[in-house]
Amino acid sequence: METASEGQKVATGEVARGFRKRDAFATGLGVLTATLGSAVGLGNIWKFPAMTGQNGGAAFIIVYLFCTLLVGLPVMMSEHMLGRRARKDAINTMRDLAPRRQPWWLIGAAGGLAAFLIMAFYSEVAGWVFAYVFKAASGSILSTDPATNSASFGALVSDPWQALLWQWIVLIWVGAIIMMGVSKGIERVTKKLLPLLFVLLIAVCVRSLTLDGAGEGIKFLFNPDFSKVTGPVVLAAMGLAFFKLSVGMGTMITYGSYFKEDQNIPATATKVMLADLTVSILAGLAIFPAVFALGFDVAAGPSLLFEIIPAVFASMPGGDFFVIIFFLLTAIAATGAMISIVEVPVAFLTEQFRLSRQTATLLTLGLLALVGAPAALSFSELSETSIFGKTFFDLYDYASSNILLPVGGLFICIFIGWVWGFDNVKRALSNDGALNNQGIVALFFTVVKYITPLLVLLVLLDGLNIL
Ligand code: PHE
Repeated sequence: METASEGQKVATGEVARGFRKRDAFATGLGVLTATLGSAVGLGNIWKFPAMTGQNGGAAFIIVYLFCTLLVGLPVMMSEHMLGRRARKDAINTMRDLAPRRQPWWLIGAAGGLAAFLIMAFYSEVAGWVFAYVFKAASGSILSTDPATNSASFGALVSDPWQALLWQWIVLIWVGAIIMMGVSKGIERVTKKLLPLLFVLLIAVCVRSLTLDGAGEGIKFLFNPDFSKVTGPVVLAAMGLAFFKLSVGMGTMITYGSYFKEDQNIPATATKVMLADLTVSILAGLAIFPAVFALGFDVAAGPSLLFEIIPAVFASMPGGDFFVIIFFLLTAIAATGAMISIVEVPVAFLTEQFRLSRQTATLLTLGLLALVGAPAALSFSELSETSIFGKTFFDLYDYASSNILLPVGGLFICIFIGWVWGFDNVKRALSNDGALNNQGIVALFFTVVKYITPLLVLLVLLDGLNIL
């Protein structure tokens, strides 16, 4: 920002240099793929199917679609607008745009905490994916027998040293990418490989859908039974909508800060949302027909992906090769998402404590190794330890997706609707009048001022049993 004081320039210089993204986002397509790189990840391939399976299928998906449209999309657009206006990291964006002395920067700080909790369990799941790349390469996982596949996954996660080791490998991998300043290079690789993952998913869908007995799975995905939709289920669906689009914690504010002035924000956010949904639905179509056809447990949860994918590939020509590629591409998608998560605390530390980027990354990953360890051990040594009735793994997931992200999103909407106001929104969404989109602006403003915050609040209170 030209008007920034010298002090602010010094403070943000580190972040800007580290990101080196201002030039990377020079094209509209660059913005789209970078934002997609953060959104698409284990959320689509691992979490969406696991939660759909545990929460009754089609009805959960419908609630999730509503939440994505009425909550995820408006919050994403809001974050992009704020970041592009301030051109800072999340905390300093909120500090700059807030009226004097109002502590809106706390949204950014809460986002830092959310990023930490998410990464603590995400890195473990990514560790399992990395492990499966190697297991697949050594040819030991292809089987259509539920018991065999479940035992094989169980052996990995219940061995405390393996669980820790794979998590550390992931943390070192992510740290090395960030510290070597090659995030941009990785983004470029991800950009090229995501379409491959897409194609492979379609191939898996075809196999899964043509298995004998696949019809049950299709029914599960498309025939809703709303009797299973309770308050906590709606909250889980809303939490997933936040998690999926990487919103509610400042990631998209940071990305917005690298948008060009003439980037069409409503169009970009809508495209990201649609592409992200497509990947999730494809993952569902790849997994559920096979789950029912081959007799797997639909409510297996975190282990679902790791049990069923080897089974589908076991019944496919060339499966022993393609299963390696599948887990490899999943690992790459997870890496793109993890880089965007870790960026939040790293930016926070460089800003707040004037640390160098290297030190901030080392500190973040060191802390993550500590905070992440209980998540890694939640399936072995700490499987009996519970806090609020949850293992550490589940607690981190629940606290971030079901509490911190919705609360962050709620305050972002309140800020946009009630503090920033209509004129700012109109200027931001229409690119200072260059876009002729008054209808979209008016609709967006009504939704973000009244509907989204009310919805988030009600779902939160009901889901947490406060109402
Ligand atoms: N959206 C990512 C996924 O689905 C996870 C993520 C959450 C990334 C929050 C950044 C911030 O895998």
